Amino acid sequence: MAQGRVSVGILGASGYTGGELVRLLAAHPGTEVAFLGARDSVGKTMAESHPHLAGAGGLASAVLEPIEDVAGRAEVVFSALPHGASAALAPGLVERGALVIDLAGDFRLAASAYPEWYGFDHPAPEWLDKAVYGLPELFGEQVAGARLVANPGCYATAAILGLAPLVAAGLVDAGSIRVDGKTGTSGAGRGAMDPTTYSATEDSVRPYRVPRHQHTPEMERGIELATGVPTSVLFVPHLVPAVRGVLTTSYASAAAGATTGSLTECLAGAYSGRPFVRVLAPGAMADTKRVRGTNVVELQAVADPRTGTAVVVAAVDNLVKGAAGQAIQNMNVAPGLDETVALPTLGMYP
Ligand SMILES: NC(=O)c1ccc[n+]([C@@H]2O[C@H](COP(=O)([O-])OP(=O)(O)OC[C@H]3O[C@@H](n4cnc5c(N)ncnc54)[C@H](OP(=O)(O)O)[C@@H]3O)[C@@H](O)[C@H]2O)c1
Repeated sequence: MAQGRVSVGILGASGYTGGELVRLLAAHPGTEVAFLGARDSVGKTMAESHPHLAGAGGLASAVLEPIEDVAGRAEVVFSALPHGASAALAPGLVERGALVIDLAGDFRLAASAYPEWYGFDHPAPEWLDKAVYGLPELFGEQVAGARLVANPGCYATAAILGLAPLVAAGLVDAGSIRVDGKTGTSGAGRGAMDPTTYSATEDSVRPYRVPRHQHTPEMERGIELATGVPTSVLFVPHLVPAVRGVLTTSYASAAAGATTGSLTECLAGAYSGRPFVRVLAPGAMADTKRVRGTNVVELQAVADPRTGTAVVVAAVDNLVKGAAGQAIQNMNVAPGLDETVALPTLGMYP
């Protein structure tokens, strides 16, 4: 390990979020990527797996290894595996002293929710209470000092950041929340096949997994954890013909007298000084394209007095603030470092 640098392991380095972790960590001055794990891609170099990372110096020629070999090789382990794959693996790594940040949903919910929403019985339920929900803007104090971090889902990140301050302030009715989500095809991962091919997606917008998407209980739990107020969320996700980007449009009954100005002020106050939250002025519209490649969430609030509805729109890059960027933010926060290290805030446009 290079002097003074934290050794990092990435499980699922051949996937989309794993590749994004490597891209961002290549510019992190406090870390050294010491282990890259995969399954079918074992034996390939990182550049063979991700040709866009061919310029990443020694990282480009690093060879992918079986994920089990990570034990004892890294002080921080990012698990970017499919749901269910890290639930049994992470506790052993934490016990050996690693900080584990799980990008899947394996530590985000209570044990009783797993059969219904993820389709498996959790193999390590005693670890669920020890995991910290890694949304640093809301749970930064808990993330500091954490050993096991449940990195939030992309839709959940956007919806919770937009709604929690409004629920906490009593500006919306927490029992009336409806979330409409849009995602590009990269949200389904590199291995996704038919429904996300160009042929199936181009010129098409369609809902999926209604009303059973696994981010539904995560949104309810995250808002309640942040505010103490129980919520009921109906969530309808859609696949749109884009590659990156998640946009959530959340609707809830507004408190009497709530205006676009008061909703916007509430969000701006809650996130004052937070480097990755951009609250838009009244009238400006959130846009996934502006946050592409960045760790930024754009938030936009609107009150519609005619229908008594509050609308809050949130845009993130699903692979950055919705996954790898937020995971690195958690890695920075856990030991009390500057949360912004290696995380872009300037987008590419157009
Ligand atoms: N994509 C997103 O926008 C996004 C956002 C937030 C969270 N997440 C979550 O992050 C995780 C990774 O997502 P992704 O989009 O990066 O997926 P992905 O592109 O499909 O990559 C999955 C990775 O896991 C490896 N893998 C697959 N099955 C495995 C198994 N049984 N055991 C060990 N390794 C296995 C793959 O290795 P090989 O290719 O070598 O087989 C690959 O490196 C998922 O849990 C996902 O829900 C994704």
